[in-house]
This record gives sequence, structure tokens and C-alpha cells, in this order.
Amino acid sequence: MKKTAIITGGAGGIGFGTARQLASDGFNIAIFDIKDAPSVSEKIGQLDAIGSDTMYFQGNIAQVDACYHFVEKVMERYGKIDVLVNNSGVAPMVRADLLETSEESIDYVFGVNIKGTFFMSQAVARRMVEQRDGIIINISSISAYTSSVNRPEYCMSKSAISMMTVLFADRLADQGVRVYEIRPGVIRTDMTASVTEKYDRMIAEGVFPIKRWGYPEDVAKAVALFAGGALPYSTGEVINVDGGFHLRRM
Ligand code: NAI
Repeated sequence: MKKTAIITGGAGGIGFGTARQLASDGFNIAIFDIKDAPSVSEKIGQLDAIGSDTMYFQGNIAQVDACYHFVEKVMERYGKIDVLVNNSGVAPMVRADLLETSEESIDYVFGVNIKGTFFMSQAVARRMVEQRDGIIINISSISAYTSSVNRPEYCMSKSAISMMTVLFADRLADQGVRVYEIRPGVIRTDMTASVTEKYDRMIAEGVFPIKRWGYPEDVAKAVALFAGGALPYSTGEVINVDGGFHLRRM
């Protein structure tokens, strides 16, 4: 029987790259994303063409009911959830110095990135505990430990996701469920489209030891490694997909 992978934000850059990779690896793909279905039908067609029986669910991950409803639908259709990739995420609407950060922006970014990721994980983890089998992969960021004072809400949200990796890994370790994290660096997607020049400059200056942009496929390969079950006696592990950005240098 084919395995099933949920990918939140699967209609976006890294999420869709991951969906293609996991579909190629033989998974059926269930996507949860806020984009309306007609706008993503071409992408769903691509996944079906690779061999996935693909399900698309439009919802706002910041709404707990939507997460639980989606998980019910996935179970009805596939009967099991083998992998959850917590990938959906948003940057602040505007980058503003932390002395100017608005309550609205904190609520928005925390709602999607923290609350959404937490309750989707909870909803899926309950099923995985029943199954006594499953893998959860969180997409955090180098922002989990790197200060950007003009988007504090994003950095704090990614740091919270790293703690979720630890918490869920600990809670589920003895239930057959392993939890992992990927920390992407600068990846070329819609999210980074408005800051292309800044990152081009940083790459040219050597801030990233591997001097190029990261691509969704780079992240997808790391997801595939975890999702394939290659690390049965490891949980809470992190893979940096950042061109070596996390290395300390002199
Ligand atoms: P993206 O903007 O291309 O994709 C994000 C997806 O999440 C979109 O399809 C969007 O519709 C969906 N989404 C947004 N709000 C949602 C909500 N309320 N409910 C459900 N779905 C929602 O961005 P990208 O770059 O593919 O980001 C994916 C993940 O990777 C995010 O968590 C991001 O923080 C993280 N990341 C991205 C990096 C980059 O350089 N692009 C670097 C490090 C981490």
C-alpha cells in the first residue's frame, strides 16, 4: 500500500518542491493550503502525473477546527498518515523595526506559524499515536537562531517551531513517532521574491559558504531523507539546508 504524506503550504515554493519529491518517492500527497483550489489545479495535476493520488484541501491553518477537519478527511481517504510536513508559514506583511512591531502583525505571524503548526501537529499526532507509527518534519528556518530586528515576529515564531520539535519528539518518542526539523537558509520562492537584491548581495559577499541560492528541491531532498525512515533510532534531529550558513567562521 502506498504511504501518505501531508504537506501544509504544499501549494507554495518549498511545499510544492517537497510534494513533487515525495510523490516521486511513491507517496500519496495531501496538501493543506490557504490558496483556492482552481489556482492550484495545474500543480495538483503535476503530482497526479507523477503517480500520487493527490488530495487538496483549502483552509486556514490558524483555525484549529480546519486542522482537525482536514485530518479527518485525510483519514477517510487514505486510512493512515505516514508523514506530516509542517511547512506552511508566513513572513510579516511589512518588515518593521521591532520598536514598531504591531499587535496585528504578531497575531498574524504567530497565528499561522506557531498556533497553526502546533494544532496541525496535535491533530496528526493523535492519529499517529493510535497507529503507533509516523514521522513529523518541521520546516523552521535559520531565523530560529538568527536575529533580524526588522522581523522579530518571524524569528520568534521559527524559534517556537524548534521548541515544538523538541516537545513533540519527547512526547512521542515511545509511541513509534519520530519528529525532525529542517532549517532552510535563503531559498528562492515567493517568500524571498521581494528581497532578492539583498540576498544576491549577501551571497556574493560570502555570507553563505556555498555561494548560491537554495532551491525548493534542496529542502525537498532533506525532507525525503527523513520521510524515508532512514533514521529509526533518532528523533529531534535537525538538518540545516543553508549552504553552511550556521558554521562559525574566523
Ligand atoms: P511560500 O510563500 O512560497 O509558501 C508558503 C505556503 O504556505 C503558500 O502556499 C501559502 O499559501 C501557504 N500558507 C500561508 N498562510 C497559510 C495559512 N494561513 N494556512 C494554510 N496555508 C498557508 O514560501 P516558502 O518559501 O515556500 O516557505 C515555506 C516554509 O519555509 C515557510 O514556513 C517558511 O517560513 C520556511 N522558510 C522559507 C525560507 C525561504 O528562504 N524561502 C527560508 C527558511 C524557511
